[in-house]
Amino acid sequence: MEQPAELLKKNFKSHLEDLMTLVRVPSVSFPGFPEKEMIRGAESVAALLKKRGLENVQILRIGSGNPYVYGERLKAPGKPTVLLYAHYDVQPPGREELWKSPAFEPTLTESPQGQRLFGRGTADDKGGVVMHTAAISSYLEAGQEVPVNVKVLIEGEEEIGSSNLEAFIAAHRKMLDADVMVLTDTNNFDCGVPAITVSLRGIVAMEVEVRALTKTVHSGMWSGPVPDPVMALSKMLASLVDSNGRIAVPGVMREVRPFSKEEAQEFKRIPFDEAEFRKQSGMVPSATLLQDGPSPLAQLWRMPSLTINAIQASSRKMASNIINDTAWARITIRLVPDMNPETVSKELALYLKSRCPWGLEVETKGHGGGEAWAADVKGPAFEAVEVALKKGYGVAPYKIGCGGSIGFVKPFADALGGAPAILIGVEDPYTNAHGENESILVGDLEKSCVSECHFFSELAARWKK
Ligand code: BES
Ligand code: MN
Repeated sequence: MEQPAELLKKNFKSHLEDLMTLVRVPSVSFPGFPEKEMIRGAESVAALLKKRGLENVQILRIGSGNPYVYGERLKAPGKPTVLLYAHYDVQPPGREELWKSPAFEPTLTESPQGQRLFGRGTADDKGGVVMHTAAISSYLEAGQEVPVNVKVLIEGEEEIGSSNLEAFIAAHRKMLDADVMVLTDTNNFDCGVPAITVSLRGIVAMEVEVRALTKTVHSGMWSGPVPDPVMALSKMLASLVDSNGRIAVPGVMREVRPFSKEEAQEFKRIPFDEAEFRKQSGMVPSATLLQDGPSPLAQLWRMPSLTINAIQASSRKMASNIINDTAWARITIRLVPDMNPETVSKELALYLKSRCPWGLEVETKGHGGGEAWAADVKGPAFEAVEVALKKGYGVAPYKIGCGGSIGFVKPFADALGGAPAILIGVEDPYTNAHGENESILVGDLEKSCVSECHFFSELAARWKK
């Protein structure tokens, strides 16, 4: 049974080239970016699925949402059906001048951890697409059938909150039926050290705008008696956390499920190296590590957090002596078990309004969100993936939490009647997803593809209907 994995290694270069082809399409799903690139992105994925032996390949649309790409290979009667998920939409490139190579020109570079492939989407999440196609085609190239039934579903709206997912599930529920889900969109414990992600934080996003004036005016002429909306917004934002960075909105924190004793102990057992963490995150040396909870990892994976993603009022270029008419910010809160997105959103909006000084006008706009998720780590699929990662990496995987969110997981697992969801992926702590110079370790991409190849046969061997 080792033959497909050996072939995958031998032909790995062709899979790396597949990834480069996908990365060259700037499929940014954010509003304001060209929709035709999303179509090209979906087409590039559909072409890859066909080339790698998937059948019934289709581009599926729900209303005006970005297309989903589907393909299947159902030739293992009596064996489980595995739904393989990834997403082809990517984040905007950010500040282009900070990229060391162009965001959409995949570029190989040596790094202290080994060879890396740079480019937007290499890791998040086009690398995840290639894990699936490489694993599937390795069997076909070896003249074998894939030992489980596979359905590949590649989404185009993950980075913007998967808002058409419920409608998509409703429209295609039967076609998507599966016993197990594998999502390749999460990070590993370290370079060369694999991980299975067993929990995700949820998310709530909100825009807030403060208006003081019907027009922008000269600050010399009017400042003093006339309130400044940027100062008002700054005070409001500053009141969202205490001096330790902990969320200070009582209605939000009330929701948080307390740590159980066992949980806290479990978190303390996971190794944490502060110097390494500082290096990987890129914190400036003088910055304080803000601590809340049993350990920094417990805090990342199991405590809520609040971030201001963007602030706008005039700009560096236009910074003249003015009082701005309005000031705007986008806030996100990461959610943990027991936090309800609607409640959090409502409490956040009320709190912001109550903190606005000087009678200014405040408008908030919630963007929905999703709940936290946690896996039940028992059963053949989890056993299979542990063995497969150990074979692929030569190192046993850690079970980790994830501070990020994947909108697809909970609604889809629920729709499949609680089917196990296996979260693995190719990202490492230096990947810098969502930032400039996103990259993957080429060696880890190979190992993760090989692991998924092993997963299929390990699962087939363990499955009892
Ligand atoms: N791949 C990430 C999720 C992730 C984050 C995995 C951190 C591992 C570590 C995913 O593409 C993502 O960024 N999701 C968004 C979801 C949001 C738009 C609902 C996120 O977490 O911000
Ligand atoms: Mn992703």
